[in-house]
Amino acid sequence: MSIHFEKLSHVYMPDSPFETKAIDDVTLTINDYEFVGLIGHTGSGKTTLVQHINALLKPTTGKVIIDSLDINSDKHALKELRKKVGFVFQYPEHQLFEETVEKDIAFGPKNLKLPKEEIAIRVEQAMELVGLEPEVKLRSPFELSGGQRRRVALAGVIAMRPEILILDEPTAGLDPGGRDAMLLMLKKMHKKEKMTVIMISHYMDEIAALCSKVLVMEKGKPVIYDEPKKVFAQGERLAAMGLDVPTTTKLIIALEKKDINIPKDILTLKEIHSYIAENYGGDDSA
Ligand SMILES: Nc1ncnc2c1ncn2[C@@H]1O[C@H](COP(=O)(O)OP(=O)(O)OP(=O)(O)O)[C@@H](O)[C@H]1O
Ligand SMILES: [Mg+2]
Repeated sequence: MSIHFEKLSHVYMPDSPFETKAIDDVTLTINDYEFVGLIGHTGSGKTTLVQHINALLKPTTGKVIIDSLDINSDKHALKELRKKVGFVFQYPEHQLFEETVEKDIAFGPKNLKLPKEEIAIRVEQAMELVGLEPEVKLRSPFELSGGQRRRVALAGVIAMRPEILILDEPTAGLDPGGRDAMLLMLKKMHKKEKMTVIMISHYMDEIAALCSKVLVMEKGKPVIYDEPKKVFAQGERLAAMGLDVPTTTKLIIALEKKDINIPKDILTLKEIHSYIAENYGGDDSA
């Protein structure tokens, strides 16, 4: 599904001393099946922006149009839409509450009033997609590790079969192993389920590895929306916004100081390696 913001603004606590314009006149289109990495300094409006996609927040002015439907135009449209937009909040495992993993994952599909058999199938498939062993089904989520609990929370959203998946810092607080596993899983899921994904993350390496587009927010406005290579080649501009670049980009900058010049739009170690082999000679075995 495509997402279009039309002159969207959002003001928190209007007409009060605390009035904050969190989103400032955003017009932007995200195409179907895009995997968007959303970055920006803290307070730049990332969470506020994505909360408009399932109408958790309503525009102060402007529109949110999903597959040509203005989602705030009527109640019925909104109800149907909510089934298609899956939202994984920060630390979603804190919202698990059922006594078994199975019941937690089934909670959403049950609310959709699906037949029992269908719910069972969805729970099973969602568990497989997020990489949970079937045996875990009858265990309490509270006995599981942090990484596994997060998978349970994600499976609960996946079981709703969303066409748009929004993830607010899905790897925050996970150890490096858990983080890698989560990323690999998201990559597979995006491919298999053909969803449009928007992932907020502070880890530029993750964004570089996964996303087809990067959206950079600054003070409520989208300032860059482009392919990762093109975005991370603008390191100075990002640094001025208090943003980091991927480790590989840093490596390229360090090599530059040693007079080894690699184009800044290269993002993987493999690409760096072949570029050096091709242009500076040397061993090509790694
Ligand atoms: N519920 C709220 N009530 C009032 N102001 C809010 C609320 N939520 C966010 N804000 C303000 O709106 C602005 C944008 O906040 P938002 O949470 O969208 O930023 P963010 O980019 O997600 O930041 P972070 O990286 O810290 O998660 C900030 O100035 C913030 O203080
Ligand atoms: Mg946020």
